[in-house]
Amino acid sequence: MSEETKPLVGVIMGSHSDWSVMENCVNQLKALDVPCEAKVISAHRTPDLLHDWAKGAVDRGLEVIIAAAGGAAHLAGVTAAFTPLPVLGVPMKAWSTEGLDSLLSMVQMPGGVPVGTLAVGKPGAKNAALLATAILGNKYPQYREAYVGFREQQTADGVAKQEIPDA
Ligand code: RP5
Repeated sequence: MSEETKPLVGVIMGSHSDWSVMENCVNQLKALDVPCEAKVISAHRTPDLLHDWAKGAVDRGLEVIIAAAGGAAHLAGVTAAFTPLPVLGVPMKAWSTEGLDSLLSMVQMPGGVPVGTLAVGKPGAKNAALLATAILGNKYPQYREAYVGFREQQTADGVAKQEIPDA
């Protein structure tokens, strides 16, 4: 892999069952031309793998981590414990409470090890990609431009679609 295509954002999720939501995150990063890698790594099923992946993240060139998990969603917090990189968390709707369990377990990090928690599910997946791009934009002009371009287009689309047909 060349320097240019080395991933800058690492997207991890606790299970393959999270992918149908988290592909929205990866697709948004790809749409903005942000190089990323995506993997299934679980804090409780594959803890040693998580340790090694998170500990090596800086040396591999990652600059932002996005971690998605559902239920007792400790993946983002444990990842943040292993790395100085900014960690963005995306709570998944799992098997109960519509994702409230995941949201609370992810967002309620005790002071000292921050996780930037986004919305539950698809909006959070998309916003994690946008926020990661905004963070990279502080260092890389092309990602600032990509993010600003996205926001401008979104605004232009909103302006163009004010009318409600049949209203
Ligand atoms: C978490 O438990 C995963 O992140 C997923 O959201 C949830 C359910 O996982 P599976 O039982 O579908 O593998 O670890």
